[in-house]
Amino acid sequence: MAGRAQALKYASDRKLQFLKALEEFIRIPSVSTNPQNKGDMMSASSWVRDKLEAIGMNAQIFPTNGHPVVFAECKKTNSAAPTVLVYGHYDVQPADPLELWNHPPFEPTIHDDYLFGRGASDMKGQVAASLFAVEAILSNGLSPVNIKFMIEGEEEIGSPNLNSFIETHQQLLACDIVLNPDTGMIAADIPTITYALRGMSYFEIRIYGPPHDLHSGLFGGIIHNPAQVLCELIAGMHDSQGHILLPGFYDRVRPLSEEERNSLAKLPMTEQYYINQTGVPALFGEAGFTPIEQIGARPTLDVNGFYSGFIGEGSKTIIPAWAMAKVSMRLVPDQDPNEVTEQLQAYLAAKTPATVRWEILKMHNGPASISNINHPGTNALAKALESVWGKKPVFKREGGSVPVVANMQRILGVESILSGFGLPDDDIHAPNEKLHLPTWNRGIDSIIHFFYNYGENH
Ligand code: BES
Ligand code: MN
Repeated sequence: MAGRAQALKYASDRKLQFLKALEEFIRIPSVSTNPQNKGDMMSASSWVRDKLEAIGMNAQIFPTNGHPVVFAECKKTNSAAPTVLVYGHYDVQPADPLELWNHPPFEPTIHDDYLFGRGASDMKGQVAASLFAVEAILSNGLSPVNIKFMIEGEEEIGSPNLNSFIETHQQLLACDIVLNPDTGMIAADIPTITYALRGMSYFEIRIYGPPHDLHSGLFGGIIHNPAQVLCELIAGMHDSQGHILLPGFYDRVRPLSEEERNSLAKLPMTEQYYINQTGVPALFGEAGFTPIEQIGARPTLDVNGFYSGFIGEGSKTIIPAWAMAKVSMRLVPDQDPNEVTEQLQAYLAAKTPATVRWEILKMHNGPASISNINHPGTNALAKALESVWGKKPVFKREGGSVPVVANMQRILGVESILSGFGLPDDDIHAPNEKLHLPTWNRGIDSIIHFFYNYGENH
């Protein structure tokens, strides 16, 4: 049997073992943002390293100033063959609110065709799919391409230490193409390749009034309430048409060409599609753009969380001493994350009344990316998806962010092929995150095909 057929058979014979191994991975609560999970981050990185070693690669854990990076490469390299670097992250988002989960988030549970658990889709399932595809290939000897893995632990907090890791390990990471499965498909029957991601700038905005909470009767009327001030500042960041009002914010936004608008318009992502996905009564967005354009090609500004004063049970009569909001912006080419930070600071400096004091805390930022899809790797993947799904993939822009993509372009000059096997209703970052197992298994087969196609065509 040829290598490809043998690898596909290996994968189909081992579906159950693969699933059990993924469950083991999901059981490790690797929440990168929570300092209490530090030990779990170590366990998750060791799990990845051990698995990569077990499938026959040389794997190593590299400490960083934050969570470690796992790197692996094939024991034997073929200098005539191209090199693919698989990117992934072993960290996950926090699971709260816990009470909304039907099963504990770190106790993976199967229901019908789904595996539930934090990280099942974003992206332990995708990391595991890549790993098992490579296991299947290596099980019958040589790989058609050189393979490397770089699996980080800080993607969900903006990859703050990854750039310096990439910069200092350029030789180690050298490759022809990055396979990045940290994105998803439009639907289970629509194989999808993503070619653009938004960037991100994340802040905490704090408004301070009196040094401590005050009696709202004794002092109400003479004190400017920080919660009120923060609400007004936030409200002033948009007009009623959904445009962002920070001065200069749109100056560098690259407009969509007519051609690209036409091609995006062909995707089945209608208003109704998004209403069904989200459960809202009606959509809202920047006037003049379709939903896929608003998500894929226009910047946004969102409040992620808001806190002020007394939110316990019962009532308490105070003027809160302070108010805080977690605000993030999704950026598009060619916006500069540092420049939008300055625009936000300028807005707060100009609009905050003298009755309070403001402060912003920069949390993380990363630029947007557009991938050059005229690359032999894209063809190899498109053909792979077509072999498994029986139809050609569609190409879409994505609204989410994966900071490594732009940084690999900038530092190493390599393109990423973005194709993961999550679905829009997987509830990533939300309670009851899940993975559609039939799609996951097709994903493993697609990655096997990809490696063989890419090796053959080079
Ligand atoms: N995998 C997601 C991004 C994604 C999801 C892309 C679905 C395409 C389809 C990734 O793990 C993620 O959530 N990234 C964060 C990055 C941020 C913290 C810088 C995001 O987008 O919120
Ligand atoms: Mn994520």
